Amino acid sequence: MDEYRLACADGSYAYVHDRGYVIRDKANKPVRMIGAMLDITSRKHTEAKLSEAKRVAEEAGRAKGEFLANMSHEIRTPMNGILGMADLLLETALTAEQRDLETARFSAEELLTIINDILDFSKIEAGKLAMDPTPFQLRKMIQRTIKPHAIAAGKKGLSLLCTIQPGLPEGIVADPTRLAQIITNLLGNAIKFAANGEVELRAALDSLSGDTARLHFSIRDTGIGIPASKLRSIFEAFSQEDASTSRNFGGTGLGLTISSKLAQMLGGTLWVESEVGKGSCFHFTFEGRLATSEEEIVPPIQFPSKTHLRPRNRPGCEFFLPGTTW
Ligand SMILES: Nc1ncnc2c1ncn2[C@@H]1O[C@H](COP(=O)(O)OP(=O)(O)O)[C@@H](O)[C@H]1O
Ligand SMILES: [Mg+2]
Repeated sequence: MDEYRLACADGSYAYVHDRGYVIRDKANKPVRMIGAMLDITSRKHTEAKLSEAKRVAEEAGRAKGEFLANMSHEIRTPMNGILGMADLLLETALTAEQRDLETARFSAEELLTIINDILDFSKIEAGKLAMDPTPFQLRKMIQRTIKPHAIAAGKKGLSLLCTIQPGLPEGIVADPTRLAQIITNLLGNAIKFAANGEVELRAALDSLSGDTARLHFSIRDTGIGIPASKLRSIFEAFSQEDASTSRNFGGTGLGLTISSKLAQMLGGTLWVESEVGKGSCFHFTFEGRLATSEEEIVPPIQFPSKTHLRPRNRPGCEFFLPGTTW
């Protein structure tokens, strides 16, 4: 069996697939050959066209990814300029009318978040997002990440709680920036989709094997909840629960896609439990190596006394942010 090409009289090539076998007599002496040639020229042409189309599609995909990454990067620089200038202006004496600049600043910040999401998403798609393991203090990272959300929660009258389970390692080696990004996305959603009640972040040690810790974080809210039929699709890129979500709550539907990919890249998974009308709880796990004492460069955090409230009715609750107290 073989495939080869034959030159035709008109100068073109024909491709053939031939098979043959030898007929032998009783003494095993070859006496005859039987074979057939199949013209596979059109199949060969189709195959060549297909592989060319695949190459073009892959090239276009790569160009699209590069375009997205470059554009997002280019847009980010002037956006930071706008934000910086707005901040400076807001520090000066402004009339009530000029204070509208705050709205412009808020919009610029929103836009920057969207750009950052698109940039991350295109990097993940292109397999170019790398983790950067660094030793850091877990509690400090959690506290820093939660802090900016207290204002948004306070404005909505939501309580923001943080419970650190006993046994949570102090220093670990993982990517603190990406972890903070997952927490920010999940806290942002929880606050966005809850009209009242509370939002709670829990951090616990899941298991320990050698010097590798598996950690389990969860972000629970008493918000609108997610119907069972949508529990899978919300993790798809650009997907929101329904078309009215973007109109009512804003957002691009990239946050969960990115967070779930990041959790995987950190050696864990992201999942959700939810009940419509009662609330949702997003969980994620990740792995980190326990930091050695030499690696623990950042001293353990001291909570400022004003924010460090230990509510008596909430055992295990490390700090409690009723509204805007923080
Ligand atoms: N805490 C939550 N409560 C209710 N719905 C949620 C929650 N978190 C996510 N969702 C649903 O999942 C969708 C996708 O979330 P996400 O990927 O973060 O996108 P976005 O926040 O831009 O809408 C949201 O639009 C919403 O429908
Ligand atoms: Mg979101």
